[in-house]
Amino acid sequence: MAYTTLVVEVDGTVQTIRLNRPDALNALNSTLLSELADALREADQNPKIRAIVLTGSEKAFAAGADIKEMSDKSFADVFSSDLFARDAQGICATRKPIIAAVSGYALGGGCELAMMCDFIIAADTAKFGQPEINLGVMPGLGGSQRLTLAVGKAKAMDMVLTGRFMDAEEAERAGLVSRVVPAKNLMQEATAAAVKIGEKSLLSLMAAKEAVNRAFETTLAEGLLFERRSFQGLFATEDKVEGMAAFLEKRQPQFRDK
Ligand code: HXC
Repeated sequence: MAYTTLVVEVDGTVQTIRLNRPDALNALNSTLLSELADALREADQNPKIRAIVLTGSEKAFAAGADIKEMSDKSFADVFSSDLFARDAQGICATRKPIIAAVSGYALGGGCELAMMCDFIIAADTAKFGQPEINLGVMPGLGGSQRLTLAVGKAKAMDMVLTGRFMDAEEAERAGLVSRVVPAKNLMQEATAAAVKIGEKSLLSLMAAKEAVNRAFETTLAEGLLFERRSFQGLFATEDKVEGMAAFLEKRQPQFRDK
């Protein structure tokens, strides 16, 4: 499908989606979020794609929701349309792994979009923030929840209430990003991680992603039960037989997603 706000490329098992509104530092508008939800749905349905890398430009992953688009909207407008909510839910419903490769600004909705991905690899130039408070509003795409779960109340409150930015080093220390790499290596590192993920069985990848996400939704006892049942369920797959046989035979497994 042709997109106006995204550049989508498939190389082997990895789909790279680049946010592409350079004149607005990739600000998220209705078109972009709807196209992104569509692109991810297509990736989920395409059996050749096993992992996704979501990225922006060198200067900005995304500088937030589009302030121009939001500026003349009323409460009735955003409440009745539930601004961006349906597309955000679509993005989060993606079952294949998504890595956010963040360079430059990831602010407001941009930071929230990065946090909707499964993990974030940051360039050393990355800056994360929830500066909505400066606009007389507050985070609206998960920032008050996912940021708090990622970095704890103290840092989340600090960022949400002051609007200050976190650099890549602080974001890694705080647990918001999984690794920081030199900016020039960002895409290479993120793609290599996606290729590595793509070598696994899609069944175990999807089950593992669901189980980790469960940790944010439920109690420890329920989460542990969910994990055990998912683990046990994977014993019904051919890929489990193949994975363990390959280990014992000292060879690489040939997973078939069965
Ligand atoms: C619309 C934006 C934008 C945004 C940048 N631009 N961010 N347009 N929405 N969020 C546009 C600018 O207007 C400008 O366009 C061009 O991108 C370049 O930006 P500059 O400001 O000139 O660049 P710079 O001086 O380098 O500053 C970069 C920046 C700054 C620090 C990132 O742009 C900034 O503070 N942006 C807004 C960040 C923000 O508040 N995000 C939260 C949004 S609310 P022109 O045409 O002038 O060249 C949000 C809510 C989410 O995200 C919840 C929704 C439900």
